[in-house]
Amino acid sequence: MMSTSRVENPAGGVSGKAIRHESAPLHVTGRAHYADDIPLPAGALHVAIGQSEVAHGRLRELDLSLVRAAPGVVAVLTAADVPGENNYGAVLKDDPIFAFDAVQHVGQPLFAVVATSMDAARRALRLARVDIDVLPAILDIREALARESFVLPTVRLERGDAEVALGAAPFCLEGSFSLGGQEHFYLEANVAVALPQDDGSLVIHSSTQNPTEVQHVVAHALGVPAHEVGIQCRRLGGAFGGKESQPALFAAIAAIAARRLGRAVKLRLDRDADMTMTGKRHDFEADYRVGFDAGGRILALDVMLASRCGYSADLSGPVNDRAMFHLDNCYFLDNVRIVSHRCKTHTVSNTAFRGFGGPQGMMVIEVVIDAIARRLGCDPLAVRQRNFYGIGTRDVTHYQMRVEDNIIADLVSRLALSSDYQARRAAIARSNAASSLVKRGIALTPVKFGISFTATHFNQAGALVHVYADGSVLLNHGGLEMGQGLHTKVAQVVADEFGLPLSAIRISATDTAKVPNTAATAASSGTDLNGKAAQAAARIIRGRMQDFLAGKYAADRAAVRFTQGEVHIGETHLPFAEAARQSWFARVSLSSTGFYATPKIHYDPKSMIGRPFYYFAYGAAVSEVAIDTLTGEHRLLRVDILHDAGRSLNPAIDIGQVEGGFLQGVGWLTCEELWWDREGRLKTHAPSTYKIPAVSDWPEVAHVKLLERADNREDTIFRAKAVGEPPLMLAMSVFHALREAVSAAVGDGEAGARAAARLMAPATPEAVLRALGALDGAGLS
Ligand code: MTE
Ligand code: HPA
Ligand code: MOS
Repeated sequence: MMSTSRVENPAGGVSGKAIRHESAPLHVTGRAHYADDIPLPAGALHVAIGQSEVAHGRLRELDLSLVRAAPGVVAVLTAADVPGENNYGAVLKDDPIFAFDAVQHVGQPLFAVVATSMDAARRALRLARVDIDVLPAILDIREALARESFVLPTVRLERGDAEVALGAAPFCLEGSFSLGGQEHFYLEANVAVALPQDDGSLVIHSSTQNPTEVQHVVAHALGVPAHEVGIQCRRLGGAFGGKESQPALFAAIAAIAARRLGRAVKLRLDRDADMTMTGKRHDFEADYRVGFDAGGRILALDVMLASRCGYSADLSGPVNDRAMFHLDNCYFLDNVRIVSHRCKTHTVSNTAFRGFGGPQGMMVIEVVIDAIARRLGCDPLAVRQRNFYGIGTRDVTHYQMRVEDNIIADLVSRLALSSDYQARRAAIARSNAASSLVKRGIALTPVKFGISFTATHFNQAGALVHVYADGSVLLNHGGLEMGQGLHTKVAQVVADEFGLPLSAIRISATDTAKVPNTAATAASSGTDLNGKAAQAAARIIRGRMQDFLAGKYAADRAAVRFTQGEVHIGETHLPFAEAARQSWFARVSLSSTGFYATPKIHYDPKSMIGRPFYYFAYGAAVSEVAIDTLTGEHRLLRVDILHDAGRSLNPAIDIGQVEGGFLQGVGWLTCEELWWDREGRLKTHAPSTYKIPAVSDWPEVAHVKLLERADNREDTIFRAKAVGEPPLMLAMSVFHALREAVSAAVGDGEAGARAAARLMAPATPEAVLRALGALDGAGLS
């Protein structure tokens, strides 16, 4: 095997080039096919799901006689109609496909209607008579904590002795922080199209990040072996973690109907159904006590984290673990205790969302640092820098992993310089003094994000590469294209292995029949895993061609090179297509699978000690905001970002991920608010009531750069780094800039510090007014 080094990513190759997304023309012209665009066979049926209107209760009677009799209705399904296991739980078996006894959240599926049209199915739903004995519901985190209502046991992670160190610290502070959840708002809602085959097996087009899990859940629900179920997906219209576990529910319902009726069945949710039936980012409550010295260095930290998991575990275990692992962000925490409660509430089951708990953990330490800086009356950036991990010293995380690739101090200094942070901070202080109604703020926050699934066994991938006798290449791998550019990057890797232009590589739909036993495309590791697996497959084929051509042309094997669409065999040059044709004619196999498993990672899930991450991705952002102190409205005026994508495989795509991730994070922390009423009904269940950032929210001044000469020190695909999730956390700078502005509005010093600490996330205009004290006495605070 060649070593992974610069030579291997040749100038003249396509890796490292800013190349547009393989489907860009299809996306912008509307010609891209999503699952909903697949033409249905004659006689296809449509499904709509009957949902609970009660948050918690016992299902006494489900009278569906009128539903059955409604026009167009072909079948009605309930828990009794599930041939196998009535469950789609990702980790625990606590997610019924259809509720059968306990009803645990408003929106929970109770039954499904299969009809000749979507419209008929939806109309029939309304005729159901549902009798539920209503029980008291637990609807928020603090209430769940008080009642010790948990979906999973509480987890503790400790290093040193936080209690003793708190007692000895010259300064101590305590506080609390609330952090809202987030709706994924992928543009494509959940969809599943189940197509029965002549042998009784099923092919399902599912909008999923995790075809293998959908395959297994469907097989269990039907009570058949996995080889009777094939899952396919060409692309997703966005996923963001929201399609890691829960699409299995919809595929299972479509499959049960299709199997029973022997007809094609489509289930596509409308926006309201999707928002009320699927989980979101976990909201968190945190309480902390911190001890520090006069320079702002943290000496002791004691944190209680509590998250809203909803009614079931879903992925809440690993999400909350990741929150604990990321509580350090870029900072060395010596004496630390983290207690993490996984609260059970009678709301929809929360799930993966870009960052997977990491953002929540990181926000808590950033809020702690902010409080320390205000207490000491110094620039929060100075306190951040004082607490950074060292190089060769103070470099072991609270879970005992050495931070070997630390570049944060240097990256932050560069960004502070290039963004003119210090001068702008001084200028903002002057302009705030002169402006009574509009106040500005600026903040720089860093990011360190661990790359790998924390569950070690997920860190594997497979690929299947065919070279056809005309020299064209078909690539298939286990990853899902959801807009993030995975297919483009993996195609770039394969093109370079064969020395071909990108146009010679075609990627086909992800399919459990082609690559089995895959992990979800998640944890930002899609390119790291599938890129390496595809590279391995391509290398096997290339090696066979090399052997054959070296023999045929009596050349040294090492003298057979693949470059610029040709194969050079000593003095002989063949077009790649001719080399492929000759290899085929000589009966050389031109198809291969490839496999990859991430090295070095391990950890003990009980103690949480080990090396859960292969490496870290870094970044930092400086954001400048203005708030209107009368209305609480605010604007992001300027952002400067320096992000570490390692040796970027495709800077155009990576910049897109950085910008998109950042703005999605801005939405989470500033405008997206989930709101349930006292009956547990989600009132923000549509774009009319749930506000995501718009194009107009992008700042007028934005300098977004990838760190240069940033080769990954680990042997990743062409030394690149994962880029999918980390940029979301760059948005922490916007929240902290808002805290600066709030503090400035109230007056620096004690009052300003108190006001800043009152600002919770999301920092909506109401939250800003509340922090300013402007709602006190208005009955709204
Ligand atoms: N980018 C787009 N356009 N759409 C998405 O759904 N999901 C994000 C990120 N970027 C997402 C995205 C999430 S949550 C993850 S984990 C990664 O992409 C997954 O893809 P990757 O591993 O190939 O980066
Ligand atoms: N990240 C994202 N998705 C996951 C993880 C993780 O660490 N573990 C299980 N699913
Ligand atoms: Mo991303 S939350 O790991 O799908």
